[in-house]
Amino acid sequence: MGKEIKNLVIIGETSDGKTFRPSDWAERLCSLTSAVGNNKKVKYSQFVRPGCTAAGIKTVIVNPHLHRADPLAWKFVLDFAKDHDLQIETIPVPPAYAAVDEIFHARHSVRRFLPTPVSRDVVAELLELASRSPSGTNAQPWKVYALAGAAREALSAALLERFDQEASEEREYDYYPDQWAEPWLSRRRKLGFDLYALVSIPKGNKSRMKEQTGRNYLFFDAPVGLIFTLDRRLTKGMFLDYGIFIGHLIIAAQARGLASCMQTTFVDYPDTVRRHLGIGEQEMIVGGLALGHADPEAPENGIVTEREPVETFTSFRGF
Ligand SMILES: Cc1cc2nc3c(=O)[nH]c(=O)nc-3n(C[C@H](O)[C@H](O)[C@H](O)COP(=O)(O)O)c2cc1C
Repeated sequence: MGKEIKNLVIIGETSDGKTFRPSDWAERLCSLTSAVGNNKKVKYSQFVRPGCTAAGIKTVIVNPHLHRADPLAWKFVLDFAKDHDLQIETIPVPPAYAAVDEIFHARHSVRRFLPTPVSRDVVAELLELASRSPSGTNAQPWKVYALAGAAREALSAALLERFDQEASEEREYDYYPDQWAEPWLSRRRKLGFDLYALVSIPKGNKSRMKEQTGRNYLFFDAPVGLIFTLDRRLTKGMFLDYGIFIGHLIIAAQARGLASCMQTTFVDYPDTVRRHLGIGEQEMIVGGLALGHADPEAPENGIVTEREPVETFTSFRGF
């Protein structure tokens, strides 16, 4: 696993050993980032909590992820410690907590894989874990076609041929809007620019762009390709269940050092996928997933995608 995550512990003692006053300083500092729960009790933030040393000195424990989650609060808390000359120590975050956070931060979409195989047992284990995800009325609407070796290559060849011919099939569903509006348009453009820059595709070079898009059908050379389908008798709400299922799957994969890339490109060629895998018309092709070991040398795997701060997409009420 990656590097050890450490909490900062602000100790209620100045650098020359004097006890810091007032005695409730830690609770007061923590209350600045806390919320009031339904029972009207103060609920401390997961990032800033009061504590106590073995010698009974009050402390404030600051999780390092506060830095990303709320940069202003992070700065405020650290400035507070500095301004009052308080001692700061570090302690490792409990392993499960640290490990889960680390996996979320480490996961990113990978678009070039090594040929290193992934066994059927590992794929089955990931799917078993993913199937622990919640679904409305426990319907478990997912159905997965797991492909490796010749089976994966044959589907890729069939799809790539269709793509190269610019054949058109009725798209399974519209994943993207016809007209992009802001702020989504800029985010989408940035991803495209960043990706093409990393793989040295000059602006407007349509043939190289097409080639890059075509790599989707090779599952980006991943040894395992998954195709997800949904029975048409089910409803679009079940896409929520599917999203959670795939989310669990990619996190379980990441925890085992396996990389992935979710792909909806397959919805452009549903007939080819269905025909090739012998899937009946009653199953909708939801998308696919490339799964395997990331190629650490591939420039496209170095892409760093940004996220908006929580405040921009969350309206907090009644905290
Ligand atoms: C439902 C879904 C469909 C996606 N389809 C594709 C795809 O067809 N091809 C591709 O290269 N990336 C695809 N992606 C990956 C996104 O581009 C990627 O998740 C996004 O840019 C954020 O980057 P990150 O996954 O590295 O954090 C898809 C992601 C999701 C969640």
